[in-house]
Amino acid sequence: MTVYTSLNSLDFDLSDVTNRERDFDVLMAHPEYFDVKYEINPYMDSSNKVNNQEAFKQWENLKSIYESLGYNVHVLEPVEGLPDLVFTANQSFPYFHNGHREVVLSNMASKHRQNEVEQLNDWYKKSEFKIRRIDRNKIFEGMGDAIKHPSKDLIWGGHGIRTSVDAYKALNNYTRSKIVTLKIDNNRFYHLDTCFTVLDSKTVLIAPDAFSKESLAKIHRLWPTVIEAPINEAAESFACNAHCPDKESVIIQEGNTQTEELLESHGFKVVETDTSEFMKAGGSVFCMKMMIPSLN
Ligand code: ARG
Repeated sequence: MTVYTSLNSLDFDLSDVTNRERDFDVLMAHPEYFDVKYEINPYMDSSNKVNNQEAFKQWENLKSIYESLGYNVHVLEPVEGLPDLVFTANQSFPYFHNGHREVVLSNMASKHRQNEVEQLNDWYKKSEFKIRRIDRNKIFEGMGDAIKHPSKDLIWGGHGIRTSVDAYKALNNYTRSKIVTLKIDNNRFYHLDTCFTVLDSKTVLIAPDAFSKESLAKIHRLWPTVIEAPINEAAESFACNAHCPDKESVIIQEGNTQTEELLESHGFKVVETDTSEFMKAGGSVFCMKMMIPSLN
């Protein structure tokens, strides 16, 4: 199993990739201490105050969407002083390995976020996952940058802004999954999950302006259907931070009308929700949860 960093190295098609077990549970973190206290991405402005009441409502609503789709949602306790802990896509990368639950913990790029990882460490330990770590000098931001291909034993590895490309060798050693790396070279799209939404095993939604030329060619080489979101919706209202947990329903920030029309024309069901309070910190639907191998 390999890390594919160049277009020429792609010597397989999706149909050659083995299937993997699905992740069934959702992990979210309660937003009690969510706030914009520092600025580590272009969306954050610490003078733009969070409305806590509104944030609670939006978070509860997202949680109930997952529940209504049949997912079991686990909730991590909030921790004072960790305002970005709510973005549970970032601190870890859980997976099944030979039928066992394992997790690779992240090395966050910002010191403001590093302590979040220890909260996740404790939670995974309690939940009996085998815990793996990557060398501290390799930045890795979990499923914000490393995104699993639906049903396939293949990971798409974003790098360039946060995660370091070297982290993928280590991720590959632990997971044994094929990894295709994608270089992001546009600051606005600081994690892969801000510009790349996997929908089903053949269809992906992307913001093409986010990627290097070669990485864009890698996406087109492997995916049969690539839907392109309009740049204004992707860069301003997180159209590509949507989440399609079941290959059918796409949970997306409300108001992304052009993207929603495109999704519907490809047969997907759009589930709109408001994450505007969380967008003040640079995150929307995909960032606010982690899909984990089912606990029971
Ligand atoms: N303020 C957080 C950061 O900059 C937001 C993280 C959003 N998460 C994501 N997966 N894109 O790290």
